[in-house]
Amino acid sequence: MTSTQRIELPDGVRTNGADPNPWWANSVVYQIYPRSFQDTNGDGIGDLKGITSRLDYLARLGVDVIWLSPVYKSPQDDNGYDIADYRQIDPMFGTMDDMDELLATAHRLGMKVVMDLVVNHTSDEHPWFQASRDANDPHADWYWWRPAKPGHEPGTPGAEPNHWGSYFGGSAWQYDAKRGEYYLHQFSKKQPDLNWENPEVRHAVYDMMNWWMDRGIDGFRMDVITLISKHLGPNGEMEDGEIGPEGYSNVYWFCEDGPRLDEFLQEMHREVFDGREGYLTVGEGTGIDGGPRDEFITDPRNRELDMLFVFTHLDIDHGEGGKWTPKPMRLTDLKRTMAAQQNAVASHGWASIFLDNHDQPRVVSRWGDTTTDELRVKSAKALALLAHLHRGTPYIYQGEELGMTNAGFTRLDQYRDLESINMYHQRVDEAKVESAEDMMAGLAAQSRDNARTPMQWDSTPYAGFTAADAPAKPWIEVNPNHTTINAEDEVADPDSVFAFYQRLIELRHTNPIVAAGDWKLLDPDDEQVYDFLRSLPEENPEERRSLLVIVNCGSTSAHIPHDAAELIHGAVDASRIVLSTTDPDMAAASLLLGKLSPWEGIVYQL
Ligand code: GLC
Ligand code: CA
Repeated sequence: MTSTQRIELPDGVRTNGADPNPWWANSVVYQIYPRSFQDTNGDGIGDLKGITSRLDYLARLGVDVIWLSPVYKSPQDDNGYDIADYRQIDPMFGTMDDMDELLATAHRLGMKVVMDLVVNHTSDEHPWFQASRDANDPHADWYWWRPAKPGHEPGTPGAEPNHWGSYFGGSAWQYDAKRGEYYLHQFSKKQPDLNWENPEVRHAVYDMMNWWMDRGIDGFRMDVITLISKHLGPNGEMEDGEIGPEGYSNVYWFCEDGPRLDEFLQEMHREVFDGREGYLTVGEGTGIDGGPRDEFITDPRNRELDMLFVFTHLDIDHGEGGKWTPKPMRLTDLKRTMAAQQNAVASHGWASIFLDNHDQPRVVSRWGDTTTDELRVKSAKALALLAHLHRGTPYIYQGEELGMTNAGFTRLDQYRDLESINMYHQRVDEAKVESAEDMMAGLAAQSRDNARTPMQWDSTPYAGFTAADAPAKPWIEVNPNHTTINAEDEVADPDSVFAFYQRLIELRHTNPIVAAGDWKLLDPDDEQVYDFLRSLPEENPEERRSLLVIVNCGSTSAHIPHDAAELIHGAVDASRIVLSTTDPDMAAASLLLGKLSPWEGIVYQL
């Protein structure tokens, strides 16, 4: 099987409000985390040649677009989200020739390539930042420099300009002895925030973006783009917030969705995207919820971004101490947050749909059931069906299509992610807000490294990620379960999670209701069954058909809840099962009896 042809969406079907409908309205995106995808030179780190060698696998899966996490020159403090040169490939990943070959091969196979754009900050090793350390250099004002707190000796404890804490632990301010001032870094101290108020900064970014677009890439995924405009006081003040138990206030309240965000995004659109076609832009919507701001930013009339990643649905299992003190997910919370996201962009704008990425634990471990392999497969399919039947553009994160699970690390030295390691020290050793045991449990459930173990290609010692006799071990441990969970086995098995993703993608490509139908939540109060209705708008009477989507999100059987039962009202025709996680006859029987088997998911044409 090769990738299916995407149909042109019929007239009268409305996607994001633009006319004609954008090509990405019925496309599926696949995210690659390059350092964990495929190593070809035995150094234990994935590389561009490795990605190119696996493109046929992605074509076979059927995806339309590949999003590459950063491969630019970087000291790799945050695995490439700290860029030292935007116009060079990091030697660890290969060369610009390798990049060109990747692009050409992907295009030949009918897939587009979207690059990560990390411009809220650069690396501290970027020449712009190095120049900025001299207060007389033309780059002096390219970053956020502030003097020590009045009455304090610069560089001494407590002299930071305010109490803002970084996302990755510690103060968000770092003292620079050369300049004698502090610079702002929302993330690690090797990721200084760029000063977007400065037009020279903005134009340098647009030039770089144009340079990449002209080289033939197909768009950008924009890292924490909603943090680029800061909320400042009338004289540029950066006000402190409430100070939490760890001794810091939240920096993000002052950086999320700042007053000039729309202006900057519109300027970027004018300077980079106007006049271009066939591209896609997706912003990481940190701090944007499913509401009017999501709609505004993605409404094509406003000429900002095609879509945003909204995270409200991935915060619902964070407990009182945030993500490190997780609590069980309640299905009604998932429904509520997804409904807000779906409804926000129902008439204008567009959603991106995702459960996994390189910053999140694996969804099958998080919300599925991995106690037996049978339940893992069932729950992976059910969660996939649930996500992919929503309205918007689905994103698959590498390995999700295999039902890959969390890393299962039990020792701190197995972790590589700076956020995980820093936050462990901050919470356990310094602020003592959590015991070592609890924090290890928090990491096991929520660490970003859960998503970053090597891609499981086969059952050989390093899972085919790198050769079994390679001189270097993988940079992070391979999950031992690659002997049973791997691409080689799944591609050959018509009942695998992989095969199920192929069918979901095909459905997105070919079924206009899946691509563009309205979305309506049913049974909002049911805690085990997630069900909704997809229908094409009424303006289009001869095409008006509906799909009923019902998913049992639990490992016990469940009754079909009220709203869905009413729509089925007794008459069930097996030929109208569009897709199901169980075989169609079983699914039809479940509908007829009003009872779903564990993790059974059904798409039924009404
Ligand atoms: C985004 C990225 C994450 C990175 C952070 C800082 O959230 O997805 O991986 O650490 O931005 O660039
Ligand atoms: Ca390599």
